[in-house]
Amino acid sequence: MAERTLVTGALGCLGAWTIKALLDDGEYPVAYDLGDDDARLRLVLDDVERDRVTLVSGDVTDARAVGCVLDEHEITRVVHLAALQVPFCRADPMRGAHVNVFGTVVVFEAVKARLKRITGLAYASSTAVYNAADPSPAPESGGTAPSTLYGVYKLANEGTARVFWNEDRVASIGIRPYVVYGPGRDQGMTAGPTLAMEAAARGEGSDIAYGGTAQYDFAPDVGRAFALAARAATEGAHIANFPGVAWAMEDMVAAIESAAPAIVGRITWNHNQLPFPESLESGLLEELVGSLTETPLAQGVRRTIEHYRARL
Ligand SMILES: NC(=O)c1ccc[n+]([C@@H]2O[C@H](COP(=O)([O-])OP(=O)(O)OC[C@H]3O[C@@H](n4cnc5c(N)ncnc54)[C@H](O)[C@@H]3O)[C@@H](O)[C@H]2O)c1
Repeated sequence: MAERTLVTGALGCLGAWTIKALLDDGEYPVAYDLGDDDARLRLVLDDVERDRVTLVSGDVTDARAVGCVLDEHEITRVVHLAALQVPFCRADPMRGAHVNVFGTVVVFEAVKARLKRITGLAYASSTAVYNAADPSPAPESGGTAPSTLYGVYKLANEGTARVFWNEDRVASIGIRPYVVYGPGRDQGMTAGPTLAMEAAARGEGSDIAYGGTAQYDFAPDVGRAFALAARAATEGAHIANFPGVAWAMEDMVAAIESAAPAIVGRITWNHNQLPFPESLESGLLEELVGSLTETPLAQGVRRTIEHYRARL
């Protein structure tokens, strides 16, 4: 049987890049998302690639609909990304818990009922399982006292995965990205650097809502890692940090200015550090899935600005 991967939250930034990685590998993926605005998919894919994606509109908290899409398209692997990000969970904690916690249980239950056909499940956890007092670099085994409800929900997902492995043999790999940047990263607490790159492509300055040092993960590299993880998740319930690059906001802004000299001095930022450790230990992900693409930050920034310029 041909491999066919379902990506939940596929109309989001990482969803679009995961779909792109699956297409590059020759698959015909199924995109599952609440909405039907495929703007990020169209930003990332050309028309020929877009035509190879089946888009199914549905809610990840709807167990019947999730079961139907898995069966109708004979899905063999799942990448579960659908979630509400930090500001949306903060604004509506009940909805946040419903989508991020309950929705993840729905996905694990649906896979559990189809273990004969579905061989791999990868899902998005987050650096938000850590807090600012955790050591830096933060050990991969850490992350026990998140500072946001979003982080608490992600920690619950990691526990869900562990118990589904122990009790039901649903194998999974959870990946914890840090600040994702790249084409399509346009919402959430840490979207500022990418929005600044998009503005720079138009020749405009911008203001970024945080500062300090953080790790930056290029969205195409993270999307590829999720595609690899769904393939590799055949045993155990693993959780791995994504190996990004730790950079100070000054350096991020300098990289944007270097790729778009017309906006030098027109990016400002708030100096508040994010409520996470500055950097993370990583290494497990590559052990689990094989070699990862790690685009150097200056190159990722330049590619993002060029991507937006090409679509002006
Ligand atoms: N972007 C980051 O920096 C970052 C960092 C760490 C972890 N993550 C996690 O990675 C995943 C993907 O992030 P992203 O940046 O692509 O987010 P995004 O906000 O761009 O996309 C999320 C997608 O999920 C969809 N969605 C929301 N509720 C849904 C529901 N009930 N049913 C079906 N679809 C629903 C949305 O329509 C959206 O297309 C999320 O789980 C996020 O928490 C992201």
